[in-house]
Amino acid sequence: MANKLSIVFFLLFVVNPFPFVEPKASEASATPFGKTLQKLEGVHKGQRVKGVGELRGFLQHFGYLRKGNSLNDSFDENVESALRHYQEFHHIPVSGEVDEETIKTMSLPRCGMPDIINDSNPNALSGAPENYSFFPGSPRWTKWGLSYAHSSSASFNIALNVVRQAKSRAFQTWAQATNSRFRFTENARPPADIVYGFHRGAHGDGLPFDGPGGVLAHAFAPENGRCHYDSDERWTTNGGGTDMETVAVHEIGHLLGLHHSNEPNAVMFPTIQGIRRFLAQDDINGIRALYGI
Ligand SMILES: *[C@@H]1O[C@H](CO)[C@@H](O)[C@H](O)[C@H]1NC(C)=O
Ligand SMILES: *[C@@H]1O[C@H](CO)[C@@H](O)[C@H](O)[C@H]1NC(C)=O
Ligand SMILES: *[C@@H]1O[C@H](CO)[C@@H](O)[C@H](O)[C@H]1NC(C)=O
Ligand SMILES: [Zn+2]
Ligand SMILES: [Zn+2]
Repeated sequence: MANKLSIVFFLLFVVNPFPFVEPKASEASATPFGKTLQKLEGVHKGQRVKGVGELRGFLQHFGYLRKGNSLNDSFDENVESALRHYQEFHHIPVSGEVDEETIKTMSLPRCGMPDIINDSNPNALSGAPENYSFFPGSPRWTKWGLSYAHSSSASFNIALNVVRQAKSRAFQTWAQATNSRFRFTENARPPADIVYGFHRGAHGDGLPFDGPGGVLAHAFAPENGRCHYDSDERWTTNGGGTDMETVAVHEIGHLLGLHHSNEPNAVMFPTIQGIRRFLAQDDINGIRALYGI
């Protein structure tokens, strides 16, 4: 009991004072893409500027531009319309231009999964109520008991047992949201239904990590079970870096079948700032709807 109380005390009084830490400007522009964006400030439709191709790549990767188009440097109506959709999803002024707010938002640390997969969240772009979404076809697990295990291909800066504790708490968070229907058990090593680990740069799945900042992690839809963390981040569980448990809660949402939400308070919102270890009602509604709970 004393232990439980002190955990509650810790969460209320130690975690909450700094839940949304704004990245410093220097930190926000530290990634190569962040630097490109700084040079694109004020660029708009009709211009051809070096770096727009990289912006096209970003918008395409996160689902705002159709795949397979050339990543040239001309800022055409497709780029403008993609920017508008990006701005709408991320709740910043919809200008269709690369303005300061857009640069700031695009430079935030975030999940590497797209925001839009085809029509995974038709509500997102139509001004309809904001809420959760699923992967195309709404894939989900066909059993409640899931095992998980750690396996990394790169070194990482945080003790494995600290990671394991954070993962365990993050799994419990989702188990609770499903009235403990889901049961998660840890295996000492793979095989397991869910395999998570740290990886650096290109690591064999076509989704290379980008060094410190930018993309922090990604995870695949059911019943794939792969969950990757960028080993170049400064992972932590007590401030001063990227909060392990916060990102774990988000990525487990993907592993269970939730896609990105445009509800800014949801754990499944794509950018990840500071510490957010608890599910929002939107996340709980999403997981319950997907599994019919
Ligand atoms: C740039 O790429 C887009 C998308 O593929 C294409 O529609 C457009 O014609 C290209 N523009 C130039 C100038 O190459
Ligand atoms: C969704 O995306 C997939 C893969 O890019 C594509 O094959 C499919 O045609 C798209 N569906 C729609 C409705 O756009
Ligand atoms: C979003 O919310 C609206 C209204 O609550 C609901 O009708 C709609 O089905 C929701 N969409 C999703 C994907 O949950
Ligand atoms: Zn994500
Ligand atoms: Zn990966």
